[in-house]
Amino acid sequence: MHTAGGTGEGEAGSEDRTPKKKFSEVQKERREQAQRTVLIHCPNKISEKKFLKYLSQHGPISHHFFYESFGLYAVVEFCQKESVTSLQNVTRTPSMGTEAAIPFKSRFFNLKLKNPSSQTSEKSSIPCSNHSPPSSKKLSELLCYAESVDDQLNTLLKEFQLTEEDIKLRYLTCSLIEDLAAAYFQDCTVRPFGSSVNSFGKLGCDLDMFLDLDEIGKLNTSKTSGNFLMEFQVKNVPSERIATQKILSVIGECLDHFGPGCVGVQKILNARCPLVRFSHQASGFQCDLTTNNRIALKSSELLYMYGALDSRVRALVFSIRCWARAHSLTSSIPGSWITNFSLTMMVIFFLQRRSPPILPTLDYLKTLADAEDKCIIEGHNCTFIRDLNRIKPSGNTETLESLLKEFFEYFGNFAFNKNSINIRQGREQNKPECSPLHIQNPFETSLNISKNVNQSQLQKFVDLARESAWILSQEDKDRPSPSSNQPWGLAMLLQPSVVSSVSLAKKKRRKPASERIKNLLESIKSHSPENDTDTNGK
Ligand code: CTP
Ligand code: MG
Repeated sequence: MHTAGGTGEGEAGSEDRTPKKKFSEVQKERREQAQRTVLIHCPNKISEKKFLKYLSQHGPISHHFFYESFGLYAVVEFCQKESVTSLQNVTRTPSMGTEAAIPFKSRFFNLKLKNPSSQTSEKSSIPCSNHSPPSSKKLSELLCYAESVDDQLNTLLKEFQLTEEDIKLRYLTCSLIEDLAAAYFQDCTVRPFGSSVNSFGKLGCDLDMFLDLDEIGKLNTSKTSGNFLMEFQVKNVPSERIATQKILSVIGECLDHFGPGCVGVQKILNARCPLVRFSHQASGFQCDLTTNNRIALKSSELLYMYGALDSRVRALVFSIRCWARAHSLTSSIPGSWITNFSLTMMVIFFLQRRSPPILPTLDYLKTLADAEDKCIIEGHNCTFIRDLNRIKPSGNTETLESLLKEFFEYFGNFAFNKNSINIRQGREQNKPECSPLHIQNPFETSLNISKNVNQSQLQKFVDLARESAWILSQEDKDRPSPSSNQPWGLAMLLQPSVVSSVSLAKKKRRKPASERIKNLLESIKSHSPENDTDTNGK
């Protein structure tokens, strides 16, 4: 789908001209593929040929691959959905000895050898697809051997972006969860969103899932003729939020009790956006299942569009995400850090601010929308053009190297105390509230997507951005030859030690020891009256 990496030239003129698919078309196609796919835990010693022959009894196979994750797994995509049913019909529920099995006819199987010794002789090593990101050592080597900074950014993108197999496994996992949820809500849909589908996901990123119940009972009322209107009898609860909590609560129980391979199920129902978090053992994905946040699905579509509009966008976002991770600006644990989603918004905003702009504003994309694009969710206008091919490419020809440097300079000097980042209008706005970092949610415009970020995390981001801009500008002057095996360009920016030692040196430069001691004494003095009161009070 994405021809990432590109030509390495980073020129807008080098965009390929093949028609680009709409987000909804990609989702539909992948979902349909996933529905005729099964996941099989295989014995380690297996003949690929015999395995495929055995499964082909149920119908032709259109695609398959193996991967390792605490054992060998196969993802097998049949040409027809009926083949899955045929396979399920010859599959038995295991007898467990002292334990008991809860029967559940899923599309997740365990393959056993009837006669293990017969296959071992033919054992040939099965080619496994890999879905883990490169080690920092390997990445550093790859970057050192690149020919230019532009080449480095494109290399990083190629190494970290989701592979075709990883994407297939993500859609399959959603589809398997959908089968479980369908036990309660027939006709529901579980859709992936967030970085799994917005084209900015790094290998190993979490899998955000959206349980879509909207299709249920949404028959075309216009079709029913006559004077009557039929409605389902339903249970009413006081609010939408309570309905969401109740739904997720039963789904959470269901995953916990009956979901093959679903472990560590946590129901986080009091969050702003209630969710069920679990780990899908066989795929290795950490999953967040939500419902009733259709707007997040729309932001995923918007990001997908931005990612597809110009080949420089994804390369820049991936590098900034990796840079932030390398310096612990982002974390897998929730907290006061900047998130990847916020960083992506910052890059998009920055690219809207270039002259000429590399990306259009959301308001502009709204003006291009036609009647079919119209979309209002919970009173929020989420309309924008969805056909990528109708958006004119940018005439901006800046290189990735220059954009990377400018990004750090731009945000190293941004008036975060006064201004808000806003991709809808593509220009700074006065901050409506006093959070240190304000990035407007593009659709729910009263929300700040980086409300969690505290002043010290923002300061850390600003300091690192300034230092990275400085390193890149120094580098221009004396760059080691690519063959010298010395980290340079992007590789240099990803090295935690370099930036922090520069930062330490700079701090020392800024404040001599005597001044620091003076400050310390002053801060003790300013606290002493309070301490006195405390002591007196006791
Ligand atoms: N989201 C949002 N507002 C937030 C946080 C998240 O609208 N304050 C939506 C975004 O659409 C985001 C999705 O929820 O893409 C998933 O959130 P998250 O997993 O935090 O971000 P990802 O974009 O998936 O990035 P990551 O790779 O870090 O998971
Ligand atoms: Mg995510």
